[in-house]
Amino acid sequence: MKDQAYNLRQKMLLNSTTPAKTIGIVSGKGGVGKSNISTNLSILIGEANKKVLLFDMDIGMGNIHILLGSHHRYSIMDFIEGREPEIENIICENVHGISYISAGNGLKSIVEWNEEQINRFYEAMDYLVLRYDVIFFDMGAGATRETLDFLLTMEQIMVVTTPEPTSITDAYSMMKYIHLRDGKKEFYLVCNRAENRQEGMATITRLQETVRKFLGKEVVSLGILPEDPAVRKAVSQQTPLTKGFPRAPITLGLHSLAQNFLSEADKSVDQEEKTSFLKNIKNLLFRR
Ligand SMILES: Nc1ncnc2c1ncn2[C@@H]1O[C@H](COP(=O)(O)OP(=O)(O)OP(=O)(O)O)[C@@H](O)[C@H]1O
Ligand SMILES: [Mg+2]
Repeated sequence: MKDQAYNLRQKMLLNSTTPAKTIGIVSGKGGVGKSNISTNLSILIGEANKKVLLFDMDIGMGNIHILLGSHHRYSIMDFIEGREPEIENIICENVHGISYISAGNGLKSIVEWNEEQINRFYEAMDYLVLRYDVIFFDMGAGATRETLDFLLTMEQIMVVTTPEPTSITDAYSMMKYIHLRDGKKEFYLVCNRAENRQEGMATITRLQETVRKFLGKEVVSLGILPEDPAVRKAVSQQTPLTKGFPRAPITLGLHSLAQNFLSEADKSVDQEEKTSFLKNIKNLLFRR
């Protein structure tokens, strides 16, 4: 009975919506601001009347709920491991206009999942892509083989760097790894924690030129975000920047990032490409 209702709902959704755009937010080096950027960007995209899901993929170390000042009983791991059988109950809705899913704790590696767990994960993704317009996956620090494989299923990759040379080098290594596995993957670049505009521009230009020269690929810059003490304040107050510090320089930067994201997203609405996320997930999960 549950399956019938589920299938029916899937069909209804299929008729009325196109699948969500999927974006992975990554960095080479950790701690560069991915979670703060994905949280606030999600809220701003939500304010632009998109149905947004923010998916915390930092299993074991997730902090999206903290940044949103929210708490939800269940995580994706509760669903995958069968403690909560309803996917709807995993989603925390209406938090600053968006939905989020917590990472939770559990088996980090897809390789360790049994057939049932794999099926559940696929069922979750199948449901979510039809329910949302945009899904942001906030990836954890430190790339493991599995997180990179998962990242490769997403349509777009937002790479966050800071002006630090080590961060730039690691961002390049990440793009190179992904590019060598899938040359068609679209990259968006964000420079966070820039002391000034020049420093941010130099960082972006350096990465764009390196990628162009060695990988023959164009990387779209979504913008530069300044170093701003408001970030730390927002984190400790558990209030998103867009809500608690609407006029802070970083928040203004996030607004322009959101605008750039929306106009770039409009440029690449290729239907075939949009369905590929689920296809990729299927390949990843069932053809191991
Ligand atoms: N623009 C900024 N200005 C000042 N501080 C910042 C800025 N961006 C990030 N930070 C600092 O860096 C910390 C880490 O940010 P965040 O958790 O978003 O990084 P992350 O990339 O998600 O980290 P991880 O790789 O561990 O997941 C913040 O708590 C804040 O103290
Ligand atoms: Mg993070």
